[in-house]
Amino acid sequence: MTTTLIVLAHPDPRSFNGAWANATKSACEALGDTVLCSDLVAMGFDPVERASHYPREQADPCFDALKAQEEAADQHRLPADVNLEIEKLRRADRVVFHFPIWWFAPPAILKGWFDRVLAHGALHSVEHRFDAGHFRGRKVLFCATTGSGETESAFNGKEGDIQMLLWPAAYTLRYLGFSVAVPEIVHGVHGYHRGARQEALQGRLASVLDAQDRLMAEFESRALLQFNADTDFDEDGRLKADRPSLSHFIRKDP
Ligand SMILES: Cc1cc2nc3c(=O)[nH]c(=O)nc-3n(C[C@H](O)[C@H](O)[C@H](O)COP(=O)(O)O)c2cc1C
Repeated sequence: MTTTLIVLAHPDPRSFNGAWANATKSACEALGDTVLCSDLVAMGFDPVERASHYPREQADPCFDALKAQEEAADQHRLPADVNLEIEKLRRADRVVFHFPIWWFAPPAILKGWFDRVLAHGALHSVEHRFDAGHFRGRKVLFCATTGSGETESAFNGKEGDIQMLLWPAAYTLRYLGFSVAVPEIVHGVHGYHRGARQEALQGRLASVLDAQDRLMAEFESRALLQFNADTDFDEDGRLKADRPSLSHFIRKDP
């Protein structure tokens, strides 16, 4: 049986993002999945990594987040809220993230969830990352919304290429070993239309919700983002001259 974790990063469950996450939940339940949910704002998840999460005498005067995470993981003393999320991630065969684009990136609460939950020593280490990540064979999907329209968010659009805006989040999960499905994006989501344009938008959003059953049923066959393999890089971590770059963030030429 498949276990699906749904992570929602939006302050209001009545929003389109909230409704879309709910449609994913219903779709997964209809497929017979075990469904786990993390509604980050509703949970009051604290997205700020800091020393007070680790109530111990620090040997170093300066808080070192990586060391604090590693020591706490070794001693089974990670913060309780982080442990709960780690447990869900470990149980999940697949993870679906729902969020709007805020300032050309996912909302800060999701970045903070990455910062705290994807703890060094618990979910990754120097030996277990990228192709050797603990989450190999598991898949994530981003279901994201933009206020801007589709052409504005295209590769040559004024608002920046949405695929590139999502790359840091995708690469974060790739670092842990996850495969990342091609994101599902709904553009032009905002409350500023009136009359016929508002009705058209509502109709378009309703059809996205209706289509979620099918999207989740076809999840396993969904195309994946391509990432360079570990063997594409030399011992200094530089892309080998004879290997193609599979990301605009890793360039062949300066
Ligand atoms: C703080 C903030 C920043 C935003 N930044 C962007 C942005 O960079 N690009 C964009 O297309 N839309 C941006 N938007 C619009 C949101 O993406 C849009 O409100 C959201 O996708 C609508 O989904 P919802 O109805 O579920 O909230 C921003 C909205 C807020 C509140």
